[in-house]
Amino acid sequence: MKTKHVVDLTDLSHKELMEIIHLANEIKARPEDYMDACRGKILSTLFYEPSTRTQMSFQTAMLRLGGKIIGFDNPQNSSVAKGESLKDTITVIGGYADIIAIRHPMEGTAAAAAMYSPVPIVNAGDGGHLHPTQTLTDVVTLYNEAGRLDNLCIGLCGDLKNGRTVHSLIKTMTSFPNNRFILISTPELSVPQYIKDIINASQCNYTEVSSLVEAIPELDVLYMTRIQRERFSSEEEYRKQDGVFVLDKPKLKLAKKSMKILHPLPRVDEIDVEVDYDDRAKYFIQTVYGMYGRMALILKMLEGSRREFSPRVMPTHHYHCCNKRCITQTEKYLPAIFTEAGGDMLLCRYCDGRTLI
Ligand code: NCD
Repeated sequence: MKTKHVVDLTDLSHKELMEIIHLANEIKARPEDYMDACRGKILSTLFYEPSTRTQMSFQTAMLRLGGKIIGFDNPQNSSVAKGESLKDTITVIGGYADIIAIRHPMEGTAAAAAMYSPVPIVNAGDGGHLHPTQTLTDVVTLYNEAGRLDNLCIGLCGDLKNGRTVHSLIKTMTSFPNNRFILISTPELSVPQYIKDIINASQCNYTEVSSLVEAIPELDVLYMTRIQRERFSSEEEYRKQDGVFVLDKPKLKLAKKSMKILHPLPRVDEIDVEVDYDDRAKYFIQTVYGMYGRMALILKMLEGSRREFSPRVMPTHHYHCCNKRCITQTEKYLPAIFTEAGGDMLLCRYCDGRTLI
């Protein structure tokens, strides 16, 4: 595989993505053929934020490939608590492990880590920004359960502002023809503008609605998400959004028999437990597909990879990103890197945040 780091799934070419989906299915069919495929290799999981599925799925994936794992899931038990920078942690762990999966509350962390890592970096979630391996989980699920990745009417419902899995999924699905997105949220939790710009620049289109009941009959896929409590400025703000969208049996009666229900999990209260027993519910099998997807991704990323430091990256501008959740706010040594987005607008290369100059 040509790509060294996976900050988002769109870092992979279409061909690479399809190869990974097919490899995931091959591993699922014949796991015994792959049980030594990563013998002698080490995966490090650096989780600065809570996780059940993503972390354990990465770890299980590496163990099932015959490799070993190191890492932390509580940065307070590591030198981070002594004030170590991301750059130094990554440089050191890059000397121990062959591949690093990193999750962090600040947006753009994986892109920053990739600048200093001598080994491949996989983004396991950076704040409310992106989550490519959840998207890999989602596409492996759709490929197998819906039978296609194109010509789908995809409803995404819930916290579309802070839900990083939503952003990565939309970005990837715009690269398949004739997908249509129905974005179901309150106005406060709608998809960020840069994601809408990506849809507009593709051959796909979207509509924004506020009623799940009205949208559900049209959908081939319903992607439910929880309201991301930890990303709200106050409990009061969260409470205003909590419980607005709940998928239950009466609503499901309005949906197509062939509709597939996905959810990145964890679920809070946005899907009634009764729905679990409906054939259309795919969110638990989705976690199994995710493990095979991550096995395939690890294998491909380690293929021919060598430990080598990346050249120093120089700043492109003298401005600071104004996104308060951008990693450049806390790791001050990071070079400011922007792309010009037309007019007075700069787009931060770490977090995709917009800065007006
Ligand atoms: C998601 C995440 O962490 O962004 N969970 C996951 O990785 N499966 C979704 C969420 O936390 O709501």
